[in-house]
Amino acid sequence: MKEIILHNKTFELFISDIEIEKIVNDIAVNINNTEIKNPLFIAVLNGSFLFASEVIRKITLSNSEISFIKLSSYEGTQTTGKVEEIIGLSHNIKGRNIIILEDIVDTGNTLEKIVELFNEQGVQSLKIATLLYKPEAYTKEIPIDFIGKKIPDKFVVGYGLDYEEIGRNLPHIYKLKTN
Ligand code: IMP
Ligand code: MG
Repeated sequence: MKEIILHNKTFELFISDIEIEKIVNDIAVNINNTEIKNPLFIAVLNGSFLFASEVIRKITLSNSEISFIKLSSYEGTQTTGKVEEIIGLSHNIKGRNIIILEDIVDTGNTLEKIVELFNEQGVQSLKIATLLYKPEAYTKEIPIDFIGKKIPDKFVVGYGLDYEEIGRNLPHIYKLKTN
C-alpha cells in the first residue's frame, strides 16, 4: 500500500519493510562490533517494541539481557511530552553497560531525561541506539551512538510508531503527506 489513512490524515510510504530490515541489521552489526560485555539492552516502550525485538535477535554479544521501560509524562493542557519518571525498570542498573533502544529521536527531550536518570544510578557505560533520528529537530548535545536512518523533520508512523495510538502494527514506515 502506497498510501494509508489514519484518523483522517493521509500518510505515504516512506521506508519499506525490506529497507527497515537492512537498517536494523546494520545497527546490530555495529553494536556487535563494540564487543561490549554483558550488555543490558533497555527498550523504551511503546514505540520501540518491534525494533527491539528484531535487533535483539541479531545481537551476538555474550550474556546480553533485555528489559523494558516506559516514560510517564505530565498530562496537562500544556503537555509537550515533558518527561517525569521512568517506570518498569526491574533491573539494578548500577555498574551495568546499558544500550538504550529507541524508536525515534526527535527533539531529544526524552533521551535527555533517560540519560540523566540512568547516569544518576551509576551505570558503567551508556550507549544509545535509535532506529530513526531527526537531526533538524534535535536540540540536545548528547551523542547518539547508533543511528539507523536520519530523516527529515516530518511526522512518521508504522513499525512501532503511532499516530494517536494507531499505526504501530504497520510493517512499513509512512510519512505524513503534505500538499
Ligand atoms: P523527543 O521529541 O525526542 O523527546 O521524542 C519523543 C517521542 O515522541 C518519541 O520517543 C516518539 O515516541 C514520539 N515521536 C517523535 N517523533 C515522532 C514521529 O514522527 N512519529 C511518531 N512518534 C514520534
Ligand atoms: Mg518513543
